[in-house]
Amino acid sequence: MAKTLNVSILGYGMMGTVRAVAYEAVARYYPSCPIKPVLYGAYTYTDGEFAAANEVGWKASKDLDAVIKDPECDYVDVCLPNAMHHDAVMKAIEAGKHVFCEKPLAVSVDEAREMMNAVEAKPNLLNAVNFIYRRCPSNVLARQLVKANRFGKLIEARSFYNQSWGGPDTPYSWRFSKTGGTLGDLGSHALDMLYYVTGMRPIELCAMQATHIKERKVPSFVGSDLEARMKRGAGSETEDVKMQAVETDDATRIMYTLPGGAIGSLECTRNAWGTENTHGYELYFENGAIAWNYDDVNYLSIYDAKNPERGWSRVLSNRGDIGSYASFADGHMFGYRDFTVNACYENMLKIAGAEEVAPIATFRDAYDVERTIEAVRNSWENRCWVKLADFT
Ligand SMILES: NC(=O)c1ccc[n+]([C@@H]2O[C@H](COP(=O)([O-])OP(=O)(O)OC[C@H]3O[C@@H](n4cnc5c(N)ncnc54)[C@H](O)[C@@H]3O)[C@@H](O)[C@H]2O)c1
Repeated sequence: MAKTLNVSILGYGMMGTVRAVAYEAVARYYPSCPIKPVLYGAYTYTDGEFAAANEVGWKASKDLDAVIKDPECDYVDVCLPNAMHHDAVMKAIEAGKHVFCEKPLAVSVDEAREMMNAVEAKPNLLNAVNFIYRRCPSNVLARQLVKANRFGKLIEARSFYNQSWGGPDTPYSWRFSKTGGTLGDLGSHALDMLYYVTGMRPIELCAMQATHIKERKVPSFVGSDLEARMKRGAGSETEDVKMQAVETDDATRIMYTLPGGAIGSLECTRNAWGTENTHGYELYFENGAIAWNYDDVNYLSIYDAKNPERGWSRVLSNRGDIGSYASFADGHMFGYRDFTVNACYENMLKIAGAEEVAPIATFRDAYDVERTIEAVRNSWENRCWVKLADFT
């Protein structure tokens, strides 16, 4: 029989909810998983979240420290706003808990470094960050092709992560505070994906940032960011509507150089009407190209320049021979929830000492993303190119 492990989820907003479903599904999707995660505790912030967590039988509490330090808890899953990650993670490491943390790991490179050093000093603990798109077989395949040098040297790269929910009617939430901007929110995923698939980090970069909407209505309710987004236009209805200044970027653009001479660009925004979760990349090599877009998540597009017919191949990646994820049957498509189950499953494998299906993003990987974010901000503030090596 599989060993069990008590999981406590910190934050029961959008990601906390997705994650709760995923842990319950691990043993069903993956009956041979050596460890069975059991939902044990939850840190909840609002009365509604507290009631909902109690309803499903969790040990819910509004006391974050008590949830983390509970001796029955083996593993914490940090689904809190970005600014709360550092404190929660440091306390969890101190208390000897395995840690799975949402991205971005931290809100500064100093915080990320401290978290990485603390957890690496306790090698028996899991340290994983939810760069979820690694768990999608299309990206597992892309990484395999690059590693196998299938199309030769990389010469150009383009990454994008565009959404549209950040229009002027969306009320203020933590995502518009200094620690919640688009670069850390969406850009961090696009950076991790670039690093994961190519294995490369930029040498130099130059960036631009913009805040299109300078202030937003303060919502008339207390709730999660998801609720704020669902209630677009639902700020205070009174005459004296309170406004709050936006402290962060709505959009970021980055240009960079990579080892070996490749050049690339990355864009992320919450203000691209017509996109919802348009995340992807195009990689151009000497002898071909690879492209992925979340809008067509189960396919990887491959172009072989040596093929006399030319033309793109749209390759179905939801197959048992790519990444050995539970797909039940080839072509029975995966979505975001499945990737989340895969992530939770692979965390269990890693804790059990087994090899994960594809490399989990560690705190060290997330630290690399965080120092890139710091470099991007510095480049825009000083209107200059910067070297990534100067940000450690
Ligand atoms: N990996 C992904 O694909 C992905 C997707 C979305 C969000 N995220 C990350 O997940 C984390 C949570 O995001 P979310 O979308 O679930 O946010 P959310 O706002 O829906 O939920 C955040 C949780 O924290 C609580 N909270 C909010 N303000 C608080 C405060 N001041 N004090 C204490 N608790 C507070 C909320 O009530 C809720 O329980 C963030 O770090 C975000 O970047 C990751």
